[in-house]
Amino acid sequence: MDHLPGHQAVLCLLTDKIDRDVIDLAKECGVRGFANLAVGYDNIDVRYAAEKGILVTNTPGILTQTTAELAWALLFAASRRTSEADRFCRAGKFTSWKPLLFLGMDVSGKTLGIIGAGRIGTAMALMSKGFKMKVLYADVKRNEILETELNAEKVSLDELLTRSDFISIHTPLTPETRRLIGEREFSLMKRDAILVNTSRGAVLDEEALARALKNGTIHAAGLDVYEKEPAIHPDLFHLENVVLLPHIGSATLEIRGKMSLMAAQNILAMLLNQSPPNLIHE
Ligand code: GLV
Repeated sequence: MDHLPGHQAVLCLLTDKIDRDVIDLAKECGVRGFANLAVGYDNIDVRYAAEKGILVTNTPGILTQTTAELAWALLFAASRRTSEADRFCRAGKFTSWKPLLFLGMDVSGKTLGIIGAGRIGTAMALMSKGFKMKVLYADVKRNEILETELNAEKVSLDELLTRSDFISIHTPLTPETRRLIGEREFSLMKRDAILVNTSRGAVLDEEALARALKNGTIHAAGLDVYEKEPAIHPDLFHLENVVLLPHIGSATLEIRGKMSLMAAQNILAMLLNQSPPNLIHE
């Protein structure tokens, strides 16, 4: 809030909460808009900003492949237990090859369920081609790319949860998707299901997830995002069957550079009183 006076455009991070109070102050100070350095913008009250004539931009498209790649990294880390195995080696416990050491789950030929088949969900699904997976997706809209390219099936969320071996979440966080996956949804999943979340933590009930992992309701999970980020539910730290990353979905040298450039172009347009290229219309 202290940074607003004297500025016409503001670069903000997904950790900055741009709520009604901030927007009211921005209006008073003559701020024209906020450029979010992220594709997700659940940290900003976009509707209220529009009501007040404050512009909001994000960085869509540029981080799609990179974030989808991280979802795959989590899927493999969880299925082949690579973080756990790494900890084992570092602890000096690797004394001999053993037939049953760190048995994981195969990926090829299994069923992948994509919750939210937008840009990133679509990219993640398309990357499954090499693994010859059956792809299911749950979304309000039909995704013709997935149906044509992968013969993917659009199913209800419950059907996806029941049939998938791997489930990857890609929905934006909205009032409708908050805690979309909780106790009931975990109970629908296969006992050997692996869940990956690279969207927003609050799409999941994290406490229910910790219970499901502990009780063997599901097999494993890979998380890049958390419900009360940067806090992580303490129970997750005690579980070996969850891989925890610190929200690094788009964190590559190339992409963070391009995101910064995109945000800078949005800011420049705001300063020049032009329409920014990545204006969010709600
Ligand atoms: C990262 O989470 C983003 O929304 O860009």
